[in-house]
Amino acid sequence: MSPAHVVGWGKYVPERVLSNDDLSEMVDTSDEWIRTRTGIAERRVAEDGESTASMATRAAWRALRAAGVTPAQVDLIIVATATPDHAIPATACIVQDALGASNAAAFDLSAGCTGFVYALGVAADMVAARDGAGKKATAVVIGAETLSRFVDWTDRSTCVLFGDGAGAVVLQANGSPGGVLSTFLGADGSGGDLLYVPAGGSEEPASHRTVSQRLHYVRMRGREVFRFAVRAMPDAAQQVLEQAGLTPDDVDLLVPHQANQRILEAAGRALNLPPEKMYSNLERYGNTSAASIPIALCEAVEEGRISRDDVVVCVGFGAGLTWGATALRWSVPLPTAPPTAWGKARYRVWRGYASVRSLIRRLVRWLLSRSVKE
Ligand code: UT7
Repeated sequence: MSPAHVVGWGKYVPERVLSNDDLSEMVDTSDEWIRTRTGIAERRVAEDGESTASMATRAAWRALRAAGVTPAQVDLIIVATATPDHAIPATACIVQDALGASNAAAFDLSAGCTGFVYALGVAADMVAARDGAGKKATAVVIGAETLSRFVDWTDRSTCVLFGDGAGAVVLQANGSPGGVLSTFLGADGSGGDLLYVPAGGSEEPASHRTVSQRLHYVRMRGREVFRFAVRAMPDAAQQVLEQAGLTPDDVDLLVPHQANQRILEAAGRALNLPPEKMYSNLERYGNTSAASIPIALCEAVEEGRISRDDVVVCVGFGAGLTWGATALRWSVPLPTAPPTAWGKARYRVWRGYASVRSLIRRLVRWLLSRSVKE
């Protein structure tokens, strides 16, 4: 087994910006309250026609291009999301079709805002286990959310917090040391009711009553989640570092789940990390749940905050309750120039091919179904 490395990264956020001032015209809140209590200034909101799958696909294309990997090389696609396009099928299967990833297995993973860390851990183990016989096992791990469709825009205690977007990484085992060093995952279902969507699932299916009582929207006991988070984040980071034989002094950059600036600062203090070792882009995107860590990781790379051989720790917490962390040594060369026109054109061809492939497969299925006599 050889460890999995992050060899590509990409993000997509919707164009539409919703500022705190915009929100103060919708609910009884203010820019001052939101900034001082959370650190958020604005967030992105999906346009009509955009969804978790479409944003996940765009982030995945960018990650594949950064890695120089073709869709046909992908063995596994995991979409971490709490806001899938449908209950059935998995959003990851929609992404698999949109990428034309003909050799990939695909599934969704639901672990709230910790979803990306969970997915990274699962994918890293699968990639490392499948590596061998001259074949590079490859996984695309995506965190994607369209929370704007699940928040109650009349509830000021939740709607100011969340945003939409997607981030993706390509994981590959290439025989070299470094990469994902350790993973720690935790869960405590006794806290499930601190952050949940009451209806729309099998326990309480959609009905006129559930819709009129607004039970399909996110409900949260914010203060309790806050207290849980300030304990869980440093604890998960400590555990994953210990497993890797490292200490907080070895960390070059902590990429935490972007939920609340006060939570990030408390985690930084508990780990004795100076602010320059904590990545934050919360101000621009709010809390994008499972998408927040991969978007942050991607921006940290783009801003030159990560160098080769750095120790990077991703740490998250969220609904479930869940929490977890991944420690990795960034062992791949970082890009020195933007993608070339040829590089971009190559992936445009792949995108075209993926659309045609999907159409042909639907057509063949339709023809076969007509030829079968019952
Ligand atoms: O990814 C995991 C997801 N969740 C989280 O990470 C959330 C963790 N929790 C938090 O980030 C914070 O608890 C919040 C930002 C949600 C709330 O901050 P807080 O400092 O814990 O405020 P609070 O809930 O204790 O509310 C304080 C006051 C209340 O008024 P009263 O009862 O003191 O009169 C709220 O009604 O602030 C009021 N309030 C607001 N005021 C203006 C709550 N939301 C708003 C708002 N604008 N948007």
